[in-house]
Amino acid sequence: MSAVDSRTFEIVKDVVLSAHRSCTTAEKIDFYNIWASTFEQDARVLDYRGPSLAASAVSAHFSGKCQAAVVLDVACGTGMVAKLMKKNGFEHFVGVDGSEAMLQRATESGLYKDLKLVVLGENPLPVQSDHFDVVVIVGALSVGHLHVKVIRELCQAAKQGGLICMTTRGNLDNASYKAALEDEIKQMEEEGLWRCVEVKEVKEWERAVRENEEGYIPGCVYLFKKL
Ligand SMILES: C[S@@+](CC[C@H](N)C(=O)[O-])C[C@H]1O[C@@H](n2cnc3c(N)ncnc32)[C@H](O)[C@@H]1O
Repeated sequence: MSAVDSRTFEIVKDVVLSAHRSCTTAEKIDFYNIWASTFEQDARVLDYRGPSLAASAVSAHFSGKCQAAVVLDVACGTGMVAKLMKKNGFEHFVGVDGSEAMLQRATESGLYKDLKLVVLGENPLPVQSDHFDVVVIVGALSVGHLHVKVIRELCQAAKQGGLICMTTRGNLDNASYKAALEDEIKQMEEEGLWRCVEVKEVKEWERAVRENEEGYIPGCVYLFKKL
């Protein structure tokens, strides 16, 4: 049995549930540093669809030349989102993540022109303002991860007319976070910072791991255009 085959659903479930023991940002980053070596195999076991749903949403609505677009992948992890966007024609990626081990995998993927190690929330997003054609953040806007206010920095990084693609989970333990995220998104709309392109609620985001859940948990993809 290969290392990949040996990652059963029970093992992966325990790993994901153990993340709840990470209370501080430093603990969460440590958790990802440990998870990095099996993250992609485990994502397959979980049938984690966030990266492909986000990549499809961007491709469906991006009207410029994909090959010329500069994409900022925030909390890029091992590079799953960039890998899928590349299949859709995007070529130029800059990645940002707080975990050295996740970034090491992203480096090995060879997909990124530039990768930056930064713990968001504690440090500003270390990129040029008004620069990116597309900004994506997948799997990092949820309870215990990034504060909802980080989306202001994502919008700032996008150029005028650029797309900002964000995702979150729709299950019970993330309900308050999702509501706070949507309040912030709406507030930014009212401030004239961006306009909604698409909000897509998805029933099957990834396989459920918590005791009170079964089957798949829902999720949501938000796509906005910077004004
Ligand atoms: C679930 S993974 C998602 C990775 C990738 N976007 C994907 O969908 O495959 C969450 C990522 O967020 C990063 N992360 C969590 N908290 C962070 C923080 N405060 N600053 C920067 N990155 C953070 C983790 O290191 C991890 O790579």
